[in-house]
Amino acid sequence: MEIDNIYNCDCLEGMSELPTGHKYCIVTDPPFNVGYHYNEYKDNKSEDEYFEWLEQITKGYPVVMIHYPEALYKFAFQIGQFPERVASWVYNSNTPRQHRDIAYFGIKPDFTLMHQPYKNPTDKRIAKRIAEGHEGGMLYDWWEINQVKNVSKEKHGVTHPCQMPVEVMQRVVGIIDPEYTIVDPFMGSGTTAIACIKERRHFIGFELSKEYFDKAVRRIKAEQAQLTLF
Ligand SMILES: C[S@@+](CC[C@H](N)C(=O)[O-])C[C@H]1O[C@@H](n2cnc3c(N)ncnc32)[C@H](O)[C@@H]1O
Repeated sequence: MEIDNIYNCDCLEGMSELPTGHKYCIVTDPPFNVGYHYNEYKDNKSEDEYFEWLEQITKGYPVVMIHYPEALYKFAFQIGQFPERVASWVYNSNTPRQHRDIAYFGIKPDFTLMHQPYKNPTDKRIAKRIAEGHEGGMLYDWWEINQVKNVSKEKHGVTHPCQMPVEVMQRVVGIIDPEYTIVDPFMGSGTTAIACIKERRHFIGFELSKEYFDKAVRRIKAEQAQLTLF
């Protein structure tokens, strides 16, 4: 098994074969256990079984999990740990769900590693900073970013039902100490890997469905090829 690659296998199997000599941090947007239709995986475990499963997969590593807030509270209870930090990803949708949270367990993210555009660019002092070449301020913990829709440019060529926006994943991994190799046990369409390539982080990941895996590999290879052009 190699770093900067993904594998078509069950994540529990994959996690047991992670190459030694690396410091790993799990970053994942897992199946939400809401009866979603994935190719191979049946997203309908009992609640106890689901949280025990997530604990088993992530045990022994720092873990950054993207989920609904109440699920993160339950996961925290399951593993007996409070998160070090929580950020919110907020989006416009016609559903009662308008945000997901990102909880950092066993690892402190450094929000100064990423920037976001200044909120008040016309303020005199801020305008001066922009003129001096500053790109933005420190990243906040409230991220307003649209979901990937079927018509989104980002969706092009990807048919995964739960594709995460790359921008969200770039923020998630970009505030993690670069000495960690990012592991995503539920790679889906490969968004975590794409974000890692963009943010110069090493990664490894697993995906159960051959169809999703094949598409993720194509997407990752294209991103890696772009990187070598510069
Ligand atoms: C919420 S999706 C991840 C989406 C991903 N963040 C993206 O942007 O495309 C969860 C993924 O986990 C995969 N999965 C479910 N059980 C798995 C297992 N035991 N091992 C590996 N992958 C699994 C599903 O096939 C699905 O693609």
